[in-house]
Amino acid sequence: MKVFSGSSNKPLAEKIAKELGVDLSPLEIHVFPDGEKRVRVLEKVVNQHCIVVQPAATPSDANYMELFFIVDALKRSGALMVTAVIPYLGYQRQDHVFREGEARSLGVIIQTIEAVGIDRIITFDLHTIKIPELFRIPVTHLSALPIFAKKIKEVGEMDAVLVSPDMGGVRRIKILSEMLGDMDYTAVRKERDLATGAISGVLTHEMPINFREKKKAFIVDDMISTGGTIAQAADQLYKKGVEEIYCFVTHPVFSGDVKDTLQNTPLQRVFVTDSIFVPQEKRFEKLEILSIAPSTAKTIRDIM
Ligand code: R5P
Repeated sequence: MKVFSGSSNKPLAEKIAKELGVDLSPLEIHVFPDGEKRVRVLEKVVNQHCIVVQPAATPSDANYMELFFIVDALKRSGALMVTAVIPYLGYQRQDHVFREGEARSLGVIIQTIEAVGIDRIITFDLHTIKIPELFRIPVTHLSALPIFAKKIKEVGEMDAVLVSPDMGGVRRIKILSEMLGDMDYTAVRKERDLATGAISGVLTHEMPINFREKKKAFIVDDMISTGGTIAQAADQLYKKGVEEIYCFVTHPVFSGDVKDTLQNTPLQRVFVTDSIFVPQEKRFEKLEILSIAPSTAKTIRDIM
């Protein structure tokens, strides 16, 4: 087995390789002055199972193209099988046509993943559980929830409530509640103004919680982009008098001035995973990054 990394998240690829007890195999990725890339495999891969780690985070298009070139180079060099570890599957929010006349962008990405010869993908916390069915190749859909459950136990489960910042996340929050011995949970009914993107929300009455008894709240979501969703949920809980509010989010997509948005919320800490690399300029005091490398490496060992 050989492990390769694209340029999207080399620290994660290094951790996965270390967990697997191998070194990262070298690749030459040359960037031309106009931004085009040339990829070359630098060691023999004939009849090898090759793992390529490349989250398709910002810039998603460039990261996907780089992944496709790496896989093409591996297949042309005789690789037996290529497993792509794409912890964050870019374009996953465009999994169907919302309005007449739109592209089904994720469908295009999936067709290309399959056409280029990727044999299997490993990914984390997809936006909907239907996405794996759109692929014809095997998809191993992992979750950061066990990592979050472990951390929540360390922070303390007494007088705590789990909160989904939108109704779409209720399934996720129920699974986490079971992992935590049926911890109470509720959700925010989120509204997004399609013209301005502004987010508002109220705690739903369908899952009522006596907030006078709750000292801690754990907001859980699949991704943070602008931070608006998490910020509005934290505000709701703050207004209810919850003293300690934390958030646990798998994918730090981190667009725009998310750093200021999150640092200035009533949140105590913002836990994310390393599914996407967070550059130094986007890090802030409240941020803590948990690693998905051990669970990814375990899955790779299991499927080998
Ligand atoms: C939405 O359905 C997702 O689960 C996230 O809540 C959303 O993408 C987060 O976006 P933002 O951070 O921009 O509010």
